[in-house]
Amino acid sequence: MTTYKAIFSGLALLGLAACSDNFESADATNNAAVADGKILYNEHCASCHGEDLKGEPNWRVANEDGTLPAPPQDDSGHTWHHPDTLLFNYTKGGGASIAPEGFKSNMPGFKDTLSDSDIWATLSYIKSRWSIASQARQARMNKTP
Ligand code: HEC
Repeated sequence: MTTYKAIFSGLALLGLAACSDNFESADATNNAAVADGKILYNEHCASCHGEDLKGEPNWRVANEDGTLPAPPQDDSGHTWHHPDTLLFNYTKGGGASIAPEGFKSNMPGFKDTLSDSDIWATLSYIKSRWSIASQARQARMNKTP
């Protein structure tokens, strides 16, 4: 009886471990989220935002069709100028869901490709690449309603 109990609770623990990857915030100190996020970033974001997070060359100059090139997501860009909720919504819905009318965005939405947890993991990775000073400034911004 005791053995069955032990096996059973062992299985329950395994189940918990398998479900533990449910990230709900962009947290650069969460190593599991940052590790998952790095894989997801390279798979889904690096093609435009760059493997080194440096964005497209001349990203400040609009393309001929009026769209913008993908900006860097390290300290040299403006990702860290935005609160977490905006970064999350921009990634989930894409530029078109947030940008003002008439703005043609090249940023796709990932709601059909990535779970909310995946998006938070990706943002955790991006955040982990910012300097401590940028992380601190962005954290203060997150607190402003
Ligand atoms: C097909 C190219 C492309 C891919 C792939 C892409 N982006 Fe973007 N992204 C853009 C462009 C272009 C912009 C500039 C703003 C616009 O056009 O809407 C942008 C802007 C953003 C912004 C808002 C601006 C900023 O940096 O603060 C966020 C956040 C963002 N992308 C996150 C992501 C994440 C996370 C992924 C991967 C899950 C990703 N993007 C994949 C093209 C892309």
